[in-house]
Amino acid sequence: MAADLLESVPDVRPAEEVIAEGAVLLPGFARTIEVELLEALRAIIEQSPFRHMTTPGGHQMSVAMTNCGGFGWVTDRSGYRYDPNDPQSGKPWPPMPGAFRELARAAADRGGFGGFAPDACLVNRYQPGARMSLHQDRDENDFSAPIVSVSLGLPATFLFGGLKRSDKPRRFRLEHGDVVVWGGPTRLAFHGVAPLAEGEHSLLGRQRINLTFRKAR
Ligand code: SIN
Ligand code: FE2
Repeated sequence: MAADLLESVPDVRPAEEVIAEGAVLLPGFARTIEVELLEALRAIIEQSPFRHMTTPGGHQMSVAMTNCGGFGWVTDRSGYRYDPNDPQSGKPWPPMPGAFRELARAAADRGGFGGFAPDACLVNRYQPGARMSLHQDRDENDFSAPIVSVSLGLPATFLFGGLKRSDKPRRFRLEHGDVVVWGGPTRLAFHGVAPLAEGEHSLLGRQRINLTFRKAR
């Protein structure tokens, strides 16, 4: 009887939410493959561990990062760039797992961007208090491909603004398994993440992991 009752409660979150022109939030889109994603993630981190990178201005980022795929996004005192090698090991970044690639392509498709073939996946780790200030993703060569952003673990507040830094961002709650796709007219939208609140996630513990897929070259 309790099960019947639960089944009759509708899912209050819509299958997708258009958050701006060319930008869509797909709640829970990655949930069905969470186990594969987390397994693949473990192997990536073993090969290329998380590290706190330094901005060109000399600040250490509160978000810890690593990468997989043909190119990895890095920052240091000399600037931002895509590097085929992990600067820490001098070896190529771990390859992009098939499950990552397929998830990114399927999400992009749902967002209206067919044939997305990412060559870069930035892996961001937020612990409570970590944040990402408003920025544009513009170190890629080709802005015709969208950005696909996957959230795992603790919930976060995603800030999604306009094409000018001064445009007031709107706030969206991103939960475990949620995917955001943006491109076309909003490919260069300013975005960021508010300081992560304390919490404990059943699968990931005291952290949020974000996978950002891009076509870098
Ligand atoms: C980013 O913009 O690189 C990260 C976005 C996020 O963590 O959701
Ligand atoms: Fe970004």
